[in-house]
Amino acid sequence: MMKERLQEIREKALSQISSTDSLEKLNEIRVSFLGKKGELTEVLKGMKDVAVQDRPMVGQIVNETRQAIEEMLENTKKELSSKLRELQLKAEVIDVTLPAKKNNVGHSHPNTLALEEIKKIFIGMGYEVVEGPEVEYDYYNFEALNIPANHPAKDEQDTFYINDKIVLRTQTSSVQVREMERGKLPMRMISPGRVYRADEVDATHSPCFHQVEGLVIDENITFADLKGTLVEFAKEIFGPDTKVKFRPHHFPFTEPSAEMDVSCFKCGGKGCRMCKGEGWIEILGCGMVHPHVLEMSGIDTEKYTGFAFGVGLERIALLKYEIDDMRLLYENDTRFLKQF
Ligand code: DAH
Repeated sequence: MMKERLQEIREKALSQISSTDSLEKLNEIRVSFLGKKGELTEVLKGMKDVAVQDRPMVGQIVNETRQAIEEMLENTKKELSSKLRELQLKAEVIDVTLPAKKNNVGHSHPNTLALEEIKKIFIGMGYEVVEGPEVEYDYYNFEALNIPANHPAKDEQDTFYINDKIVLRTQTSSVQVREMERGKLPMRMISPGRVYRADEVDATHSPCFHQVEGLVIDENITFADLKGTLVEFAKEIFGPDTKVKFRPHHFPFTEPSAEMDVSCFKCGGKGCRMCKGEGWIEILGCGMVHPHVLEMSGIDTEKYTGFAFGVGLERIALLKYEIDDMRLLYENDTRFLKQF
């Protein structure tokens, strides 16, 4: 009886194991035969009913049965595991010939590129780069630059007022005053930054644009220093054949004042679309710092003189990269930006 029952269990277990296709089912089979309430365990509990002289023989068959089932469980488990692993590897295979995911990297803005170049030129001449606030006191933006309350130049640079005393700066010239007040002489600095004016947007105007200010103060600084410096700057930015022209102009904070034109780098001065047929392109304002401006910031005008200049950054970028509409600079369309 017992022997047949064991044989039956053994065959049943082996046939179930051999038709299994998952590790979970395999475990269920283990429990159903070898677990606490498993079929083989139940049989063992019936040993007490077996005649004493038969017990060793039946015990041996029980052990063999258990061993056979365990062995098969173990082998099948190994087989299944490696089969599953193989399937998994096949499913997770990477197709290295697929096109890569595009990682869109940004691109330097023409303003940034132009500013980097301007900085490089002036740093090369020993200038320091400093910055000042965009939200500025009227005093630094106008008053201390010789533009008192009712000066017409204030009208020309109509701006955004925060209150009576505070404005969005209209020019980076305000940083000149801040640097002069710091009083570290002699000084050679440029100051790039954003400026604001109540201008309507068109191809050449924006209510927010950028300037680069320059200021040099030392003993014996003359207009010749100004000229030498700015000629060098023009040649570095627009090419060694560039010629410059200084036209007398008026700025309240410089005396004498001038605007500097460069010969058109596109046509060499003959006249073309780029220079609107004139052969010359205006690029900056400059002059010798007005003694009154120096005095207001506490600089001894008997000992020191200086020159200053202000360049429109967009103007340089538009010219250098031959962009014909300033608005393109503010749209931040990467298809546009990528070209430079
Ligand atoms: N701040 C002037 C402007 O916005 C530009 C300028 C002219 C700056 C002459 C200067 C200068 O430092 O000396 O039009």
